[in-house]
Amino acid sequence: MRIPVLRTNHLTSITDLSYDEIISLFELTSRLKSCVKKNKKHAYLPGKTLAMIFEKSSTRTRVSFETGIFQLGGQGLFLDMNSLQLGRGETISDTARVFSRYVDAIMIRTFSHQRVIELANNSNIPVINGLSDTFHPCQALTDFFTIYERNKTLKGTKLLYIGDGNNVANSLLLGAAILGIDITIACPKSYEPDKDIIEKASIITLNSGAKINITSSIDEAAENANYIYTDVWISMGQEKEAAKKKKLFKKYKISKEILNKCAKDCLVMHCLPAHRGEEIDAEIMDSGRSIIFDQAENRLHIQKAVMCSLMKNK
Ligand code: CP
Ligand code: NVA
Repeated sequence: MRIPVLRTNHLTSITDLSYDEIISLFELTSRLKSCVKKNKKHAYLPGKTLAMIFEKSSTRTRVSFETGIFQLGGQGLFLDMNSLQLGRGETISDTARVFSRYVDAIMIRTFSHQRVIELANNSNIPVINGLSDTFHPCQALTDFFTIYERNKTLKGTKLLYIGDGNNVANSLLLGAAILGIDITIACPKSYEPDKDIIEKASIITLNSGAKINITSSIDEAAENANYIYTDVWISMGQEKEAAKKKKLFKKYKISKEILNKCAKDCLVMHCLPAHRGEEIDAEIMDSGRSIIFDQAENRLHIQKAVMCSLMKNK
């Protein structure tokens, strides 16, 4: 099986990857997925260890990375703040230097994105961002792969994200810019993605031809959307803002009404976990329009492709 050669040693943001690299990761993902479906051996990382640092909770990221590395013939180490000296003040750079002597790659889920960068800068082994306050590259890769495997192309994709301009929105915006996908982000005023991220995405579009639209008007944004996506209004670490955000975000949810304004074959996406009845109505999540659980499944397959590409021959 051809494993893509990536220029980057780490996956800290989707912008570490080029268009061609993402498409070759998708091709590998399809092949790895079909190995699982056909029960074919694909142990491309025998004896390799992935350390998984979790400073925040997780269902999908933990289970898909741990299962993924196992299916590739390696093993995952689940490490949370109660079991690491990191939780008692050991620095991220010392942790990086020590891990570099034991394991073959590190996945980290954390708060400040700076911690991911610091880990990568001090590691001799690949570092994968499993979500920071700013980015969620594995999620965006999964989402675009889910569209790609349905349509066999990304051409003609018009993605509408409604809700909070958060880590998931940032990675979708940058990923869409790289992949030439038209994306609208509809958020309440002052909850848009950060200016520097919008600026970075805009610069990338000069090459890819993607169109970016940041708005607070959902109605205008819904027109022609063939994928509509949302995420929780209150991300991990923002619990104190819950009451305020719940009021402000009320109309930024995927409901039947909004779906009726989109293209008639529009499909519904969510990175999960979902708060049913808040950012998305439960009946829509469970309807034939939802590809939410395909996205969740594909976390396993795309992350295996990412691990193979970063860890093989390293
Ligand atoms: N989408 C996602 O990253 O889910 P978890 O928080 O369960 O890992
Ligand atoms: N924006 C959410 C994504 C969870 C996968 C959060 O950061 O909590």
